[in-house]
Amino acid sequence: MLPCQLNIAIDGPAGAGKSSVARAVAQALGLIYLDTGAMYRAITWKALKLQVPLTDANALGELTAGSEFCWGGPNGAPELCMDGEPLPAAIRSQEVTSQVSLVASYEEVRKELRQKQRELGKGRGVVMDGRDIGTVVMPAAALKIFLTASLEERAERRLKELGQDSSLLPQMMQAMARRDHKDASRQHSPLSIAPNATIIDTTGLSLSQVVDLVIWHARQVCLSEGE
Ligand code: CDP
Repeated sequence: MLPCQLNIAIDGPAGAGKSSVARAVAQALGLIYLDTGAMYRAITWKALKLQVPLTDANALGELTAGSEFCWGGPNGAPELCMDGEPLPAAIRSQEVTSQVSLVASYEEVRKELRQKQRELGKGRGVVMDGRDIGTVVMPAAALKIFLTASLEERAERRLKELGQDSSLLPQMMQAMARRDHKDASRQHSPLSIAPNATIIDTTGLSLSQVVDLVIWHARQVCLSEGE
């Protein structure tokens, strides 16, 4: 637990470990964890299921506006749900992963999700991870972290997570570099480092080392706020 209430923004490229770090930090500090990437993935999954053309920004914006995100896991756990159902495993499928950056490039979608993200985090200490959290969604967050790692290590981690063979490393590196490029070069809320963010290069660091570092920074922020 922390001696103050804090919002923490964690941004970074694909596979930098944001979700694992954010989840563990939130648990250790008694904060809510919001995975904003899962929301973009869920909208992409729903659009594919309902055959909404992924080139139709207005239709995707309407689909997003009509989607209801909620907190609701077993025994009151704060797990993210959509339209009253837990998010399906298919939001992590290759099909969704290859299309999500296109869907996330539309301001029509982003403005709806941004509003929902702020609502979900309202009134409580929250750890949010994504691409535009420190820059756009929570620019006033007391602690902003930008997590990164070498492309090779990020691709290796993702292969391990998916239980795939290491011989696929070149393809995975290529796919991730392509997605990073799309996310960093898009017109609306591109992936970028907030001016006052702390950059942590996690190459060669273990999950617990990164978690400890973020918690250390959070404590420093609380201490300086109490001065
Ligand atoms: O976990 P991984 O790094 O694969 O990505 P994610 O956090 O699940 O996000 C999936 C995609 O959603 C990203 O590649 C971005 O295109 C988009 N995204 C975004 O645009 N803004 C956010 N705040 C979060 C995700």
